[in-house]
Amino acid sequence: MELQCGVCLLRTWRKSDAGPIARHANDREVWLNLRDLFPHPYNTAHAVAYIRSVTAQTPTRSFVIVVADEPVGGIALRLGEDIERYSAEIGYWIGRAYWGRGIMTAAVGAVTAYAFASLGLLRVFALPFSDNAASVRVLEKAGYVREGLLRCSAIKAGRIHDQYLYAAVRPNASHDLAPAGESPAA
Ligand SMILES: CC(C)(COP(=O)(O)OP(=O)(O)OC[C@H]1O[C@@H](n2cnc3c(N)ncnc32)[C@H](O)[C@@H]1OP(=O)(O)O)[C@@H](O)C(=O)NCCC(=O)NCCS
Repeated sequence: MELQCGVCLLRTWRKSDAGPIARHANDREVWLNLRDLFPHPYNTAHAVAYIRSVTAQTPTRSFVIVVADEPVGGIALRLGEDIERYSAEIGYWIGRAYWGRGIMTAAVGAVTAYAFASLGLLRVFALPFSDNAASVRVLEKAGYVREGLLRCSAIKAGRIHDQYLYAAVRPNASHDLAPAGESPAA
């Protein structure tokens, strides 16, 4: 499937994305703002394993970011469970050569709209490090609201970080009405 967002195309992953994606992902400046789950150094085998892990997903929750036919980054939703099953965390990265062109702002907007309209979610949140000014700006431009500061909540590369909690809530979401198929007593 594809989401067209003007400056980029978001589509489901293909095996052939592995080579170019590994080249863009193999960058300490990218890794420094991501979970340790994202490998560093990052090689083609890492990309192949990731692509294999997400291609069977239904519905699609992970997209490769494509600019001028080049796969240059990734954006994904991690679904909540149990009482948080109508929430997801959004995570994203793009190769350094593509920073500052408005690409991630468009991608976050498109995936958030997809989460509400196609996955039926009520809430999408993100946890950028408090000093990740570019990511904070992306979230604010995409309409996310800062809900809090999680002090000393993460450790990355030997440094303790605070994380901001940003979230977008589905337009017209109401506390009174359970989503379709959910009885109030469930
Ligand atoms: C964060 C990241 C996704 C941003 O992607 P991008 O495509 O460059 O984002 P955009 O171009 O849509 O917007 C970036 C905004 O941040 C601003 N910005 C960039 N660096 C900044 C800084 N150091 N201080 C303040 N603002 C900054 C840009 O000027 C732009 O805002 P503007 O449009 O008002 O000028 C990209 O830098 C990245 O992949 N970083 C590494 C991984 C990462 O941090 N992922 C997010 C984890 S929460």
